[in-house]
Amino acid sequence: MTDYSIDLEQYILDHIDDEEPILQELNRQTHIQMLQPRMLSGHVQGKILKMLVQMMNPLNILEIGTFTGYSAISMALGLQKEGAVIDTIEINDENEEFIQSFIDKAEMHQTIQLHIGSALDIIPQLDKQYDLVFMDGDKRQYRRYYELIFDKLNTGGYILADNVLWDGKVVEELHPNDAYTKEILAFNQMVKEDARVEKVILPFRDGISLIRKK
Ligand SMILES: C[S@@+](CC[C@H](N)C(=O)[O-])C[C@H]1O[C@@H](n2cnc3c(N)ncnc32)[C@H](O)[C@@H]1O
Repeated sequence: MTDYSIDLEQYILDHIDDEEPILQELNRQTHIQMLQPRMLSGHVQGKILKMLVQMMNPLNILEIGTFTGYSAISMALGLQKEGAVIDTIEINDENEEFIQSFIDKAEMHQTIQLHIGSALDIIPQLDKQYDLVFMDGDKRQYRRYYELIFDKLNTGGYILADNVLWDGKVVEELHPNDAYTKEILAFNQMVKEDARVEKVILPFRDGISLIRKK
């Protein structure tokens, strides 16, 4: 069978809105300056996040795993409510200056609040209710993030969990030492069995779970 995936990806890029200049620059600088630049969401996922935020119209967003800020800025571009805010948490303090410089360049310092530290420590300190949580931190901690954020999510609010297909490994034979795939499998099963939420998996890129609190 012919593999059209690269052609299709290019076709998609040719038929969607252009990447905003600030995101183009962030994308470029991440590739120049950072290790593992592939962690960045990228143009298509950024546009999807922005569009989902426009559809959900949240007041408060929580992001777990900022990396260099691409997804945070993409989501911020979709905010419409007066006073809407994104709390974004990044464990790697070496990224702080880079992230903050792009938040400032995007003139989003009032909208995006960067927290440096582990989400496991910071989430319990956040005295706020959220309409949307974008979960994109350490894949081995997904169930813990879910438990920590659940009570802070408003009824009717959404969780977007990234990488839930884990490069297709969720359907491959499990290697006993593969803690990442093990946790993603356990997380997906836990969400599947959680009657408090509606859920669907968008088979886009590495898979995004779209979870709605009933
Ligand atoms: C896949 S990257 C995030 C990509 C980013 N959301 C984007 O779309 O451009 C995952 C990030 O989560 C961070 N991280 C890992 N464990 C974390 C934790 N416990 N708390 C906060 N951030 C964490 C990593 O340092 C890394 O920068």
